[in-house]
Amino acid sequence: MTRIRCDRTRAWAALRELYDARGRTLDLRQAFAADSGRFAALSLEAPHVFADLSKNLIDAEICDQLTALAAECGVEEHRHAMFRGELVNSTEHRAAMHFLLRHPGGAAAGALAPYVQGQLVEVHAVLDAMLAYAQQVREDRSITDVVNIGIGGSDLGPQMAVLAMDVLVDHGKRFHFVSSVDGHELSAVLRQVRPESTLFLVSSKSFTTQETMTNAHSAKAWFTAQGGTDIARHFCALTSNVEAARQFGVDTTFGFWDWVGGRYSMWSAIGLPIAIAVGSEHFRSMLAGAHAMDEHFRTAPLASNMPVQLALLDVWYRNFHGFATRSLAPYHSGLFRLPGYLRQLEMESNGKRVDEQGQVLGYPTAPVIWGELAANGQHAYFQMLHQGSDVIPIEFLTVKRVAHDLPGHHHKLLANGLAQAQALMLGQQDDGGHRHMPGNRPSTFLLLEELTPASLGALIALYEHRVFTAGSLWGINSFDQWGVELGKVLAKNIEPRLSSGDSTGLDASTAGLLRRLRS
Ligand code: F6P
Repeated sequence: MTRIRCDRTRAWAALRELYDARGRTLDLRQAFAADSGRFAALSLEAPHVFADLSKNLIDAEICDQLTALAAECGVEEHRHAMFRGELVNSTEHRAAMHFLLRHPGGAAAGALAPYVQGQLVEVHAVLDAMLAYAQQVREDRSITDVVNIGIGGSDLGPQMAVLAMDVLVDHGKRFHFVSSVDGHELSAVLRQVRPESTLFLVSSKSFTTQETMTNAHSAKAWFTAQGGTDIARHFCALTSNVEAARQFGVDTTFGFWDWVGGRYSMWSAIGLPIAIAVGSEHFRSMLAGAHAMDEHFRTAPLASNMPVQLALLDVWYRNFHGFATRSLAPYHSGLFRLPGYLRQLEMESNGKRVDEQGQVLGYPTAPVIWGELAANGQHAYFQMLHQGSDVIPIEFLTVKRVAHDLPGHHHKLLANGLAQAQALMLGQQDDGGHRHMPGNRPSTFLLLEELTPASLGALIALYEHRVFTAGSLWGINSFDQWGVELGKVLAKNIEPRLSSGDSTGLDASTAGLLRRLRS
């Protein structure tokens, strides 16, 4: 597979020239005035998602050159390598085949590479078993509470999706998500539940994560102390380490494979809370929506490929304009947890400073991803977006049709989203200074017809492939996360010292804090 790092291409040099000549000073107001077809030319359609890119600091020539960059970097070849099941996660010697978790099989499976096809058989076997189990739990009215114990990818995806599909959730059951080792979290949930009516899902790819295992052991101890019986009925493990789950004492397990990264795992057994919440039909529609986006990413030409074009925009802003963050602005309360989910997806995947060969990169990679429900953000931090000293590209996420019938609300919500994007672009002249808004602040507008399982699936897959493409352009491995390991090791070293007080070998600051915590 030929991957060429973005900074070693001809397109990169051409983009540098274009940026200096026009990109740096491109004015959106003038660009719209000069070209009545700008909106149509810079809009993209993909399954379930419409994207308006016209309020970004680009024009036709910049787009062409960015697309040339993707071609020269070998993005298409890299993409095919992922879909062929090659070891694209090179530092862990693993494939990254989360797309397979949503593949429908049937005739379309014939196009898959033989190894990938073989894995699909297992994927469907686990999916069918997991959905049958979800159905059984849904029908069991004596189970009123489902507690998911997991962290990172074993928490954020299910939590985000259950909230996003709230209108479809089985309201005979409450769903709780416990992630932190901070005991306040688990004890707050345990105060609300009873052992005989609770199902605990211990969700961990590795089944070794300290936070999850501590919470799982505490939940099991609480269950027994409260007179709970029948662990097999009240505990279920979602893991690729089935043996460790058995040793923990759980017999009901749903497995998955090392080629499913934690932050790409909501489509696997890790999605069980989603399946219990909304049922197998909706879970399958979520998979179908994601698969439709997979097919778009796999087959659409680079120039009209939505994940590719969004990733190119990320590179344009990060590496040429130097914008260090990107804000997400969802205009739908169901997307409450989406920024948190995408923070892990983008920053754990592409927050890297070396290329695939371990060479230090001479350019920055993933921006900081941040934001919250925009209706609230407008009354909090949007001030900085309009008048702060940094330019922060913002991504509006809106939904055309809603699932409530309260009159007037939705138009007000949509009007606010449109107005914010407009205000950021247009700005406002004021000689006095304080009311002056420079404008020309870029934004992308993503629009779903409706927030359904299928459109949610497509939206998440869109982001997954965008992250893959950006990582591909930057020449990094988007599928490992070595940076999180050192802190885990050091925490293991520090934990016993909190009891013993031994500060031998610690730096003066850590030793001082340890003394203070023990005094
Ligand atoms: O510490 C980071 C991480 O490994 C994430 O990548 C992962 O999603 C999370 O921890 C949880 O891991 P596990 O599912 O193995 O408990």
